[in-house]
Amino acid sequence: MNQLSSSKSGPLNGNITVPGDKSISHRSLIMGSLAIGESVISGLLEGEDVLGTAAAMKALGADIYKDDDGYWHVHGVGIGGLKQPDAPLDMGNSGTGVRLLMGLVSTHPITVTFTGDDSLESRPMKRVTDPLTGFGAEFEGSDDGTLPITVKGTSNPMPIKYELPVASAQVKSAVMLAGLNTPGITTVTETIPTRDHSERIFKYFGVPTSLEGDDIHVTGQAEITAKQMAVPADPSSAAFLVVAALITPGSDIVIKNVGMNPARTGLFSTLAEMGGYISFENKREECGENVADLHVKYSELSGITVPESRAPSMIDEYPVLCAAAAAAEGETVMRGIEELRVKESDRISVMVKGLKACGVNVTEHEDGMTVSKSDVTGGAVIKTHLDHRIAMSFLVLGMIAENPITADDGSVIETSFPGFTDLMNGLGANICS
Ligand code: S3P
Repeated sequence: MNQLSSSKSGPLNGNITVPGDKSISHRSLIMGSLAIGESVISGLLEGEDVLGTAAAMKALGADIYKDDDGYWHVHGVGIGGLKQPDAPLDMGNSGTGVRLLMGLVSTHPITVTFTGDDSLESRPMKRVTDPLTGFGAEFEGSDDGTLPITVKGTSNPMPIKYELPVASAQVKSAVMLAGLNTPGITTVTETIPTRDHSERIFKYFGVPTSLEGDDIHVTGQAEITAKQMAVPADPSSAAFLVVAALITPGSDIVIKNVGMNPARTGLFSTLAEMGGYISFENKREECGENVADLHVKYSELSGITVPESRAPSMIDEYPVLCAAAAAAEGETVMRGIEELRVKESDRISVMVKGLKACGVNVTEHEDGMTVSKSDVTGGAVIKTHLDHRIAMSFLVLGMIAENPITADDGSVIETSFPGFTDLMNGLGANICS
């Protein structure tokens, strides 16, 4: 455990980049591992979650290494070419890593055991094992559908048509990845759109993938060839800096090269509606994804009711939105976000407890929270429950608190945002161990 404390901060100023997108980094490694030839990836997130996926893909047969200039090289095995790993795959804290890989291996004739840390081993996996059973895969594990789980992949996969019962890009992607080594057409239907990085990267690597209304069709057993990938900066990591700059008087920052996939930018729309100054500059497209530079200035914010339909496009950003909400006039209402209860921690309950301990006026709902403008007294030690976004959200809140706010375990930040403390302090924050 490595405590981190954040004290009241002066203005944030500077021009910076944040680490690569976590969702796209996982998918780049996976697709490169399935392609024929050498894929070269720039901007890969080197957080623990993504390094766990790299290690898992190596154990499944891909050759992956980083060169002296920071580029990642991936030599794939071809779709259908994954090998039996020698040992269980420990996916650490990573829900995305484990769910995507369970999908992928379920249609290869191999047996793979997945484990994780205490947080991951308490998260629901039936949401992926249910549809994957339809392909013919078998699963062994505890009755409550949590890790450790052993996947017995099928040698004779059958394509499925699956309507997502929950708005989850991880479940959608698990089914799509299972479809890659399945003859015929696998169809996923999603009535509530979620991040579409898998659809985009499938097309980019040449997997026959088509969209028809709410349906996504993937034609299996294609041969895909290696690609150059440029991973944009993660908008979910940029979110902490954006909120920090908006609530800290005098701040004026630019965050370069941020992913602007429309299915990821809900927080920025919300903050703009709250009165935040966020300007999107130098808009462009790279490797099938939208990218821009964000210019953010301190702003007087007002609370709003966040539209429930926006939840999937900012699902990871509600914890840090709470810090903005504590600084915003009136009330900020966040409902329709019960999925937060099954993230790395129960993010509704953990945020509510921590906010109250810091003097923030908050009401808990079964499906969300309402946060009112508050004098943030701070002075609390927050239990982070192995949840990186809880740790970073409270360190941002500490920047406007009367007394320092301490995250009981800052080491969890390494899962998604290596270098967070130095980057924040370089802009003017006061975060120390
Ligand atoms: C992710 C999807 C989201 C998100 C997670 C990354 C992905 O999870 O919370 O951080 O890369 O597909 P759900 O699919 O469970 O909503």
